[in-house]
Amino acid sequence: MKALILIGGLGTRLRPFTLDVPKSLLPIVNRPFLEYQLDPIRKAGIREVILCTAYRASLFKHTLGDGRRFGLKFHYIREEKPLGTGGAVKNAEKWITETTVVFNGDVLSGLNLKELIRTHQKNKAEATIALTRVKDPTLYGLVETSPDGKISRFLEKPSWDEVTTNTINAGTYVFEPSLTRLIPPGIPYSLERGLFPQLLSNGRRFHSHVAHGYWMDMGTVEKYLQAHLDILEGRTPFSPAGKRIRKSVWVSPSVRIGKEAEFEGKTVLGTGAQIGDFAKLSGNVVVGPRCRIGKGAQIENCVILAGTHIGDGARLQQCVVGSDCLIEPHVFIGPGRAVGDRSIIKKHSTL
Ligand code: GDD
Ligand code: MG
Repeated sequence: MKALILIGGLGTRLRPFTLDVPKSLLPIVNRPFLEYQLDPIRKAGIREVILCTAYRASLFKHTLGDGRRFGLKFHYIREEKPLGTGGAVKNAEKWITETTVVFNGDVLSGLNLKELIRTHQKNKAEATIALTRVKDPTLYGLVETSPDGKISRFLEKPSWDEVTTNTINAGTYVFEPSLTRLIPPGIPYSLERGLFPQLLSNGRRFHSHVAHGYWMDMGTVEKYLQAHLDILEGRTPFSPAGKRIRKSVWVSPSVRIGKEAEFEGKTVLGTGAQIGDFAKLSGNVVVGPRCRIGKGAQIENCVILAGTHIGDGARLQQCVVGSDCLIEPHVFIGPGRAVGDRSIIKKHSTL
């Protein structure tokens, strides 16, 4: 069995953070997002992973290498222009020589892959989709099933008057290699709008597996922040890396903490991060590697990416600050703000 991960999207809803870094490589609690998908793949006994890249393709190999570090073997495939989710799978056709688990490369989930694969095999299906339940199906691919789990309708991004169920495509599929023959070569093509409706109209063996537990498509800045908070709060199967000091502070090597610095919630400090005297970090806060937090700064429920400096007395609430920014002293950044990489915010500014 192999895995294939779709990681060629532009990540437009996560701008400005995806202007330089593709969505699947953005750090989540100081680890590239994709690592959270690789762990469960290896645990399911899969060893070969096909990575379908397009946008900022070369960064993947640069960041993740050949897979050995994860106990896996990677095959990188590059689309000159993004081919869509289906076109990407077609482009990887010659590697799909056996049953393959296909992943959207932006979903953080506790899905039990072994159970998904077992459902697929038990039904002798040609394709099986993992489903999850959400409050707003209009943001996803709506999936209707019959009582035996067969898929009866697939509708990508339905409008509210088309919503008939709360089960949606969780972005993980098991595919038999025969499926790739149904995808036209060399042109942009969508699994969701093309292949899946076609499987239904051709009466192919197309099944579902309802997954329980944590699930999050980290497609927007709000969801990106939320994924961090969920990991820190223990709502996901993943825990922060680093050594736990105090009750709820995780630190990596070379961290320096100033005198009287306070940590009121759960905090993760990346390698070489420095926290100034009297700084106060409350709620859930992730500070990236090499960041510096100034004296008396107050940070609440925020994510701060690598190499950013926050000036003395700055106050940040529920926001994401990109890498290598300079936030000068006494700046206030309020809830929902997204500050792109390398921004400079002048002292006393209010965002
Ligand atoms: N290689 C490649 N080429 N990958 C692509 C391309 C492409 O042209 N376009 C998108 N992808 C990758 C993205 O990088 C992402 O990891 C995945 O395919 C899904 O794309 P999104 O843009 O995130 O789609 P979505 O979130 O709107 O909807 C999809 O995911 C939902 C679940 O998270 C659909 O599959 C929905 O049906 C599903 O419910
Ligand atoms: Mg998505």
